[in-house]
Formats: sequence, structure tokens, C-alpha cells
Amino acid sequence: MADALAWVPPNVDLTTPSAARAYDALLGGAHNFEVDRAFARKAEKVFPGVAVSCQANRAFLRRVVQFLMRNGVRQFLDIGSGIPTVGNVHEVAQAIDPACRVAYVDNEAVAVAHSDLILQDNDNATIVQADVREPESILEAPEVRRLLDFDQPVAVLMLALLHFVPDSDDPAALVAPYRDALIPGSYLAITHATGDSRPTEMRALEKLYATSSNPAVARTTQWITGLFGDWELVEPGAAYVPEWQPDNHVDLPSHPEHYIFFGGLARKPTLPAVS
Ligand SMILES: C[S@@+](CC[C@H](N)C(=O)[O-])C[C@H]1O[C@@H](n2cnc3c(N)ncnc32)[C@H](O)[C@@H]1O
Repeated sequence: MADALAWVPPNVDLTTPSAARAYDALLGGAHNFEVDRAFARKAEKVFPGVAVSCQANRAFLRRVVQFLMRNGVRQFLDIGSGIPTVGNVHEVAQAIDPACRVAYVDNEAVAVAHSDLILQDNDNATIVQADVREPESILEAPEVRRLLDFDQPVAVLMLALLHFVPDSDDPAALVAPYRDALIPGSYLAITHATGDSRPTEMRALEKLYATSSNPAVARTTQWITGLFGDWELVEPGAAYVPEWQPDNHVDLPSHPEHYIFFGGLARKPTLPAVS
């Protein structure tokens, strides 16, 4: 029984929903409380299809990691990694090459406790409790430095994360130190909530998230694309998540723009040769 509850850290607030636990509830996971499940039900009501959007975001994660593996990347820094669920980065990557190294980062207690639990026998993966708004606390964390060699390509993943960073913390500017820490040939994957095609429902969803521990701000697809700076976007470029390198075109939804998450994967260009 103690093991069954080892993912519940002490002093966790059971009265306010958290983004990590609500996302787990929307994905059908088991590491959430009634307050999170009630929140997930309300989210689905104000923005029908929110659960399907979350599943599509997870499928995007899998396809991105598989693409990166095919292209020689063996190191991953997954920020805002969430509560481990099906198809975590280390599972997808280490199924192809067990030597892959994965550092997870999240600032939510349940996400960190449960990650700790499932990673305890995995020498090539770790979780660090830190805030994306403090890049140094992540990029210089001893556990991150132990696992990841920044003289080799690293893929930084920020999936379904930056809408939790308010404008007052300048999310566009805070991506820069992460991009700067990587060598050419490294990658950055981002997905972010947008309400471009469903503004009224998205406003209702934002209003709901304002009552949680993680208020969220949807942003335009144009703004989201700008987060990649001058990096080279991998085909098909920035897109709604179902459209990004789908497994097959038969199952593509007729309205991918009705999904919440928009993003892409970009490669840091090689510096031009000095003549
Ligand atoms: C919606 S989940 C996404 C999980 C995973 N990245 C995915 O796409 O499947 C967002 C995660 O970001 C975390 N998060 C929110 N704000 C954060 C911050 N300022 N620093 C680090 N993590 C944060 C939440 O705790 C949550 O686990």
C-alpha cells in the first residue's frame, strides 16, 4: 500500500487542481485527485475535444523523439515533462537505444515524485525539480550536467509548457538561453496552446485555468512559430500537432486547426564558415 501511494508527496495541495494532474486525468492516467478529475470534466465541457488534443500532443512527442533518434540525437532535456504516462521520452528513445540519456524537469510535486519512482533503476534518466523560468537552475543542475554532454547535440523539449508562463515573465525571451546553451545540430521542440480557430472556447478554457494552480495563456500560431528564432524548422514546419509528420495520412483529422496544440521541431543551424 505504501508503494501504491508513493507518488503522493507530503504537503501536496488536494484542494486546487494542477495542470500536471489535470493533464494526467485528461489522458486517462491514475496520478490525479478528484479535484483534478472534476477540473478535467469542466475543461472538456468548455472546450470540447481537449482530451483528444492532449492525446494528439503525446503522439506528437512520440513522433518527434522517433525523428530525433533517426537523426542521431541521443540526449534529451524534457522541460515541463509532466506526470509520467504512456510513451515517455526515455521509453520511446531507450527502446531504440538503451544508452540514450534523458533529463526530465518539472516544478510540480506529483510529477517529480512519480518520475523519481519510475526512474529509480534507470541510470540514464533523471528528474530535476526546477522552474523553466530559471534557465540556470536547469542548465547548470548537477544531475542534468551528469547526464547530458552539452558539447554534443541535445534535444530540448518544451511541450504544452510555455502557455503556463505569463507575459510578465516574457516566455519568448526565456527560450533564448536554452537555444544558446546548445551546439549546432541540436534541436528544440515546442508545442503551445492556441485559440486562433476557436477564440470563444479558448477564452472559457483560460478562465477555467485561472482557477487552477497554473493559469494558462493561449497565444497565436504566429507568436508560437517565432519561438524557434532563426533555427531551421523540420518539415512540415510549425503546424497543429496532428499535421506534424503523421504516421499516416488516412487518420488525419479533417480540422487539425480545432486542436489546441500548435508547434514544431527546429534544428540549430551550423555557423557559417569564416572566410
Ligand atoms: C500539460 S503538462 C505537459 C506534459 C508533457 N510535456 C507533454 O507534453 O505531454 C505541462 C507540465 O508543465 C509543468 N509546468 C508548468 N509550469 C512550469 C514551470 N514554470 N516550470 C516547469 N514546469 C512547469 C506542469 O507541472 C506540467 O507537468
